[in-house]
Amino acid sequence: MNIPARSGSVSRRTWLAALAGSAALPGVSGATTRPDITLRFSHVVAEETPKGLAANRFKVLVEQRSGGRIGVQVFPNGQLYGDHDEMQALELGAVDLVAPSLSKFGRIGLPEFELFDLPFLFDDLNAVRRITQGPLGQKLLQALPRQGLVGLGYFDNGFKQMSANRPLLEPGDFVGLRMRVQASRVIAAQMRALGAQPVTLAFSETRLALAAGVVDGTENPVSNFWTQAMHEAQTDLSLTNHGYLGYAVVTNERFWQHLQPADRTLINQALQESLAFANQIADTQNDQALQALRQAGTTRIHSLNSGQRERLRQAVQPVQQQLARRIGPRWMKDLQQALRQA
Ligand code: LMR
Repeated sequence: MNIPARSGSVSRRTWLAALAGSAALPGVSGATTRPDITLRFSHVVAEETPKGLAANRFKVLVEQRSGGRIGVQVFPNGQLYGDHDEMQALELGAVDLVAPSLSKFGRIGLPEFELFDLPFLFDDLNAVRRITQGPLGQKLLQALPRQGLVGLGYFDNGFKQMSANRPLLEPGDFVGLRMRVQASRVIAAQMRALGAQPVTLAFSETRLALAAGVVDGTENPVSNFWTQAMHEAQTDLSLTNHGYLGYAVVTNERFWQHLQPADRTLINQALQESLAFANQIADTQNDQALQALRQAGTTRIHSLNSGQRERLRQAVQPVQQQLARRIGPRWMKDLQQALRQA
């Protein structure tokens, strides 16, 4: 896998490699009190989010069904690895499962995944699922072995909302704002189309950057906004529902092939059930977070009327054309066709 190293990351890489060398490998532990296999699942969000809850459920299912023979360690909140190094850790075998947002695959040489970031593409989560569960979604996962990865499935967080220290209801409201974005060229182009300046930051750095005024605003589903306490640093949240945030669970191809077929089936089955669970609760998690946010009273919450939403949609329309080449014309054609059929 070819992942550009961060500057000054040599010692980090060495450290990751050392950790990988000491990692539990399938079947190598002889101890009876310890699991034979321990899967390490690293992610960057809080436990009370769709991803956090899905990872915890996966742990319970795997450990129960294997009678404790297969253990799962979940490392939430970027405790172990953040956006910059979790893929590298996966490559080196320092972790076994990660679930980055689909927006974060472009940086590892899979820009076609950024099609999910196109603004105002999906009307609702059912429309998203028709892509993720359909031939196009499967074809995208089949691109992962190109990078030594195996894609085990998709799941939702939900639709993103815009936050800042002012309402963001019309394109003009964004002008001049520095907006934190994930490492996706499509999202960066969306912010530019609105007159804002995109600033790519790791998820774990976002709250502090907002509090310190390094950036003025950001976008995320409410469950992430709330569980990272971004409301303490933002006076206004505008319910724009302008884009989708979802994930793919990926593992290292070498690790996956090394497992016994029966273990692979058990792990995969538990994972699919956990992802279905995440999809069931994603909406509720975001609704509950919105309710908690209203109660906290720190942040004004704005709904958009249809005219405002339409003007935002018009303003970001050129992004489709501008980014078609990056995503790839063939993928764009498949996407249009899948959306028409939906
Ligand atoms: C973000 O970086 O904003 C999100 O991808 C975080 C996540 O994993 O939900």
